[in-house]
Amino acid sequence: MRILGIETSCDETGVALYDSEQGLLGHCLYSQIAVHSEYGGVVPELASRDHVRKLLPLVDELLNDCGLQKTDIDGIAYTKGPGLVGALMVGACTGRALAMALDVPALGVHHMEGHLLAPMLETSPPNFPFIALLVSGGHTQLVRVDGIGQYRLLGESLDDAAGEAFDKAAKMLDLDYPGGPMIAKLAESGEVGRFTFPRPMTDRPGLDFSFSGLKTFTLNTVAKHAQENGLPDDQACADIACAFQEAVVDTLVIKCRRALEQEHLTTLVIAGGVSANTRLRERLELALKKINSHVFYARHEFCTDNGAMIAYAGCQRLMAQQQEGLAVKVTPRWPLDQLSPI
Ligand code: KG4
Ligand code: ZN
Repeated sequence: MRILGIETSCDETGVALYDSEQGLLGHCLYSQIAVHSEYGGVVPELASRDHVRKLLPLVDELLNDCGLQKTDIDGIAYTKGPGLVGALMVGACTGRALAMALDVPALGVHHMEGHLLAPMLETSPPNFPFIALLVSGGHTQLVRVDGIGQYRLLGESLDDAAGEAFDKAAKMLDLDYPGGPMIAKLAESGEVGRFTFPRPMTDRPGLDFSFSGLKTFTLNTVAKHAQENGLPDDQACADIACAFQEAVVDTLVIKCRRALEQEHLTTLVIAGGVSANTRLRERLELALKKINSHVFYARHEFCTDNGAMIAYAGCQRLMAQQQEGLAVKVTPRWPLDQLSPI
């Protein structure tokens, strides 16, 4: 079965073709970063309009790259939620309309299920059951995964998501949006240990997270070392970025170990934009080796939003005969544990 995947939940227009026999045939991505960067974050209305402009040309480009026609598509999967309602509507309307015109089944996919399953696109994918750490701009969750659609939430952030915390810390240091990769880059020239930031909620039991205190700590440290231009000198900015990243990474590593031990599992999957963070990957690899466990993640381009993860997740569900009627429905808020198993 050959599935077209469409991702438009936020600020990336992503499309991909996944074949149940041959694997990923191709994918194309258009990032709206340039559209939003002057505002320091995503402007929902601009996002929707840009998806409208870019989606269909991107589908044509993808089919052209793969040497295929629209009539070679056997099913369509589009992101149904969570995400920005207008942006989701563009993908859902387009996906539904294409499916109707081509007379093929279509299905709305959960964006975080897409992220969670993205490591399945790699050459040595993880086996169920495993613990998934979902770390994106909107989510920080630890989930027990027993199979596709069999998700039990073990813990989550009580306030900001990890990616959101990276983005806000980046703003405090006057870095561009999206802040995660910017902080990671700046941290490379920072001195580990010059500043020590708190590791929130690690000294009490449980698997929940909180990043808002860390945000305040970062703000106070920036203010304390600020010069006339309102910012610390370059070295201090790098040292703050480094201390911030270490604190987030340490917190995530502690909770991942705890989740694996609690559930008696030895496989961890990290997914979502923050799973692209090299320091997080390195630290998890080291920590998990010590407890005979392994960490899996997707290649960099499939950690952040993309069409391939939606095509893959949709393909699994469409092959299990799951599909939806003609009505265009999106679900901007959608708990992961409400999904049905296949
Ligand atoms: O999964 P994603 O592309 O979109 C959402 O579903 O939210 O995640 C985007 C988030 C942003 O907050 C971005 O700053 C963060 O992932 N991010 C990173 C890195 N790359 C992206 N955070 C830390 N280090 C990175 N290398
Ligand atoms: Zn995402």
